[in-house]
Amino acid sequence: MAMIPFSPPRIDDRTIKAVEEALRSGWITTGPRTKEFERQLAAYCGVQRVIALNSWTNACELVLRWYGIGPGDEVIVPAYTYCATANIVMHVGAKPVMVDVLDDFTMDPDAVKRVLTNRTKAIIPVDIGGLPANLKAIMRVAEEGCSLFTPKVNLRVAGTNPQMRLGRALVLSDAAHSFGAAVAGHKVGAQADITGFSFHAVKNLTTAEGGALAFALPEPFDADELYAYFNTLSLHGQSKDALAKTQPGAWRYDVAFPGYKCNMTDLQAGDRPGGAGTLRYRDDTAAQGDRQRYDAAFKGDDRLIAPLFKDADRESCYHLYMLRIAGATEEQRDAIITAIARREVSVNVHFIPLPKLSFYEGQGYRMADHPNTYRLYSNEISLPVYYDLSDGQVDQVVAAVKAAVKEVMG
Ligand SMILES: Cc1ncc(COP(=O)(O)O)c(C=O)c1O
Repeated sequence: MAMIPFSPPRIDDRTIKAVEEALRSGWITTGPRTKEFERQLAAYCGVQRVIALNSWTNACELVLRWYGIGPGDEVIVPAYTYCATANIVMHVGAKPVMVDVLDDFTMDPDAVKRVLTNRTKAIIPVDIGGLPANLKAIMRVAEEGCSLFTPKVNLRVAGTNPQMRLGRALVLSDAAHSFGAAVAGHKVGAQADITGFSFHAVKNLTTAEGGALAFALPEPFDADELYAYFNTLSLHGQSKDALAKTQPGAWRYDVAFPGYKCNMTDLQAGDRPGGAGTLRYRDDTAAQGDRQRYDAAFKGDDRLIAPLFKDADRESCYHLYMLRIAGATEEQRDAIITAIARREVSVNVHFIPLPKLSFYEGQGYRMADHPNTYRLYSNEISLPVYYDLSDGQVDQVVAAVKAAVKEVMG
């Protein structure tokens, strides 16, 4: 019996051909394929503009920098997330303020309300596993907290002050897991002020490494202006990108400020312009089929708690199957994972909560302050879900999980 991998990337002839075509075209940095990819992403998400960059991390760090967030400022993040969500706050010198999550793994809007202060400059909800956070409630908390908001008055970004313009904490959605998920029938990307996607190797839509920002800021923000600014910010502050410089006689450029370097390349975005593009991966319904087969197999077993994928307002993109083992301690969960591995199945845990990571613990964050996060994490096991996981393999995973739970829990 071969080991069932947790999340292999989808690399087929079409992917290889697309990369080969990009190589043969001579455009290996940001060029026409990236621009087409951005158009496809924007159309799919129902927003005017999307910029594709080299990771969620760099894309979202640019957002914090654009919003002028730095020392003395606070950014609210859930304690239950991947380290990137809080690391970008550290990178800009601000303070991550952690809050607990609800039973569906997403940020508790009431907890956000309790920690909102006149130092709060942004809120980063996380769509963990692909289920959108309660963005409506979080947007409401940000809007209702506008009287507390204290903008930096001396901030100038491309001739304006974004903090003065918005007049409240920015809501930056961490949609690293949720490309293709929906809220009230609309694809994720249009609900928060700015939404950040990850196209990292294990994500449901991948460009090997990569990320993107979808802009949905209210008026008077202008999506074209934002796109132009972030394009410049991601390319050293250069007034022209490589594509623009190839126009006849358009070699001269200026650098108005020292920007960063995190553009996407055409090798990553590559697919035939005008075609369905890389987005087909997201439209694959196979993960949904895996989910249904798991749900059916676990139904009726009180020890196995299936994740929430859908409610009245939200539909997950089925990125992860975050199973929980009722009553299992962290040690028992770890032993169950070892027992599953002995049965040739790779599983994972999403995620080790931030206060349990030595850096954040050293900064004074305490797991005890986020009891629901710990309660969910301690008995969570993520099961394989991907485009070519066969029904037989799903059955093998189910059998391994059930046997391992019995072995450890009795
Ligand atoms: C919740 C979450 N946020 C952010 C990231 C960072 O994404 P990237 O690797 O594209 O920087 C990840 C990556 O795994 C993630 O899981």
